[in-house]
Formats: sequence, structure tokens, C-alpha cells
Amino acid sequence: MVRTGRHFLQIPGPTNVPDRVLRAIDQPVVDHRGPEFAMLASEVLESLRPIFQTRGSVVVYPGSGTGAWEAAIVNTLSPGDQVLMFETGHFSGLWRQVAENFGVQVEYLPGSWRHGAVPSEIEARLSDDKNHSFKAVMVVHSETSTGVTSRISEIRGAMDRVRHPALLIVDAISSLASIDFRHDEWGVDVAVAGSQKGLMLPPGLSFNAISEKALAASMTARLPRAYWDWKQMLAPNRSGFFPFTPATNLLFGLREALRMLGEEGLPNVFRRHQRHGEATRAAVRAWGLEILCEDPREYSNSVTAVLLPEGHNADSLRKIILEHFDMSLGAGLSKLAGKVFRIGHLGSFNDLMLAGALSGVEMGLRLAGVPHQDGGVAAALNSLTAAEGIRKPVPSLT
Ligand SMILES: Cc1ncc(COP(=O)(O)O)c(C=O)c1O
Repeated sequence: MVRTGRHFLQIPGPTNVPDRVLRAIDQPVVDHRGPEFAMLASEVLESLRPIFQTRGSVVVYPGSGTGAWEAAIVNTLSPGDQVLMFETGHFSGLWRQVAENFGVQVEYLPGSWRHGAVPSEIEARLSDDKNHSFKAVMVVHSETSTGVTSRISEIRGAMDRVRHPALLIVDAISSLASIDFRHDEWGVDVAVAGSQKGLMLPPGLSFNAISEKALAASMTARLPRAYWDWKQMLAPNRSGFFPFTPATNLLFGLREALRMLGEEGLPNVFRRHQRHGEATRAAVRAWGLEILCEDPREYSNSVTAVLLPEGHNADSLRKIILEHFDMSLGAGLSKLAGKVFRIGHLGSFNDLMLAGALSGVEMGLRLAGVPHQDGGVAAALNSLTAAEGIRKPVPSLT
């Protein structure tokens, strides 16, 4: 089929890469041991701190988010260590697997995939752990497979109330630069992130933000590590260099993306994502469909997972939407396969892109014969204009 116009990439990452970032990447490769590179890396490493809301170090790996998951584990833990994790969805399960592959003993508190990690359950389990056997609490902030966020500040509060010394390790892969994430204020010890979501870059870079406490833990942690070793990375980083060949051109892109985020201002970035999250949810409600996330306090402003009515397959709907409207939506993962589709509304995104994406969904629902009410797009437009205060909400015509 001949395609015209731009493809709509509405998966919850990789996200759309702004033209400014594409242009920045499109440069001749520089010497990664030369002065131009040192200036680039120094600027990028410094500008990343406010994005994580930390004064501490951030390391950048050529690698996907899974690599940064592994880095968080191998730098802080020893074989046989116990950690506490909460089942939030597909990604918490994969992260658990990485830890177990390294011989870490994971206690995995069960969850329904429809709510975030429960702070009171974490508190209860930690308060039973009188010997402080748990070396880390590992939580996914925005569970991309479900569109549910976990309340990290409340989890930190729970850990503090029982005075548990475990490290707090957080996957901020689909929250960083989209949903407020406060590394220092929330006492996060290691944050894990990737380039392909709120940072508006192609896949290929991943990150660890590291607290002093995590750095101290890394001095005695005994899991084997080489490529991911913070110590090997932090020493050359001080003068703007890497211990191996860095992803030079992605770093050009990262510099531009960080400048763009700086120009917009982080609070505005979060507000933009919130508006788009709210408008998307308004559309889903107007369609009469169910948002997977059950607790409004835990809605993710990066991604909305939508449940299809019994007897209707979300993958068939996605296929129709791709074929007819050239839009990619996120698939349901593992136990949600076929049951949900996910609308990504993060990264380089604006009101009209959202309106277009939701129009594609509404037309797809019609073509696929999924029972729904019209008016989702109108509800989203009302939400956008009401929140923006441009004009009074207009009543839906349907
Ligand atoms: C929350 C979360 N964690 C981890 C990952 C894994 O990252 P990657 O696929 O870049 O290895 C993803 C990927 O989408 C994710 O959304």
C-alpha cells in the first residue's frame, strides 16, 4: 500500500524524534578522544542532572534500557542478596528475571497489573525484615505495559518509617522527562532510564542516576561486572570521556534534546504530558471503554492502556488502524496480549498530534466493529481546550 504523509508512531516508546534532534544527529562523526567530544560529553552529563532532579552523577551507556537495568543490579548487589520487588506488569517481570539471572533472590509481591506498587505492603514486608536482609527495593515508576504509575515518594516514606536501609532502585524509563521524577527529593538511589521515550531520541542510549549511598554500595558489591561498571565509567567521565567508544552521534542528539527540554522548562513538560494524558482518558471514557489503570492517582501521563470489551481482539483493532490510517499503537504485552491496546502520548508531541491519534483510534473502533460510543475525540478536544483555558468547553455534537 502506498503511504502518504507521516506515519503516526503512537507506541509508548520509541517515540517521535523531533526534526531538531534528527538534524543534530546528522553530523560527521567526531574523534571520541578529541576536545570537541569532551565538550559535548561534559555538557550532556551536566545537563542530564536537572532532568533526573539530582545533584549526583548520571552515567550514559550505549545500550537499551535492559542494559541499564542490569547496570543498576550488578553495581549494587552481591550474589545471593535479597531484594523486594512489586509486580506491576510486564516490565517488572522482565526486570525480576534479570536480577534472578545474576543469582539475586527476588521476593516479588503480587499485583493485578491494574494498580501500582502498594506502599503499605512494602512497608509491612520491610518492617518484618528485622535483620535487614533486603538490600534493595526495586520498583517500576511508570509501568509502560499497563499505563500505571507507582507512587515513589510514598514508597520512600514507607521505607523511612520502618527505618529500612535498603537501596531504592527505580525504573524511570517511561517517566523521565514526561512525568515528575525527583531522584534526590524522593531518596532514589539508582534511577534507570532510556533515550527512546521522554528524551525524544532514537533507541540506543540508557542511563543510571546514582546516589552517594548507591555509589558507596558499589564499592563492596560483588556481582561480576565489566561493561556496566560505574567506576570504570565515572573516572573518564570527569574529563568528558568514556572508557569505550561512545554513541557519538546519539550524544549530539541528546545535547539537542536536553536543550529543547531546557527551553520548554521541565514543569511545562510535565504539564503538557498531564494535559495529553487527561485528554486521552477523556476520550476513552467517552467511547465507553475501560482504562486499565484502576486508581486515578496512578494514571500514567506517558501511556494509556485501554481494555477492549470481551470477545474483541485489540491486535485486530491495531492491525486495522495500521492498515487504514498508518498509525502504530502499542500492543498488549504478555498476559494482556490481545486484551488491551496502548496509546503512547509522551515525548515530542502536541495537541494536534493527539487529536489525530485519537481520531485514528475512533475510526478504527468503527471499522473493527468494536462496541463504543462516538464522541471520544470531541471529549478530548474539550479536555484540551478546557485545560488550556483557550475557550469554554464546547458541548459534544454527538
Ligand atoms: C518501563 C520499562 N522498563 C524497561 C524497558 C526495557 O527497555 P529496552 O527495551 O530499551 O531494553 C522498557 C521498554 O519499553 C520499559 O518501558
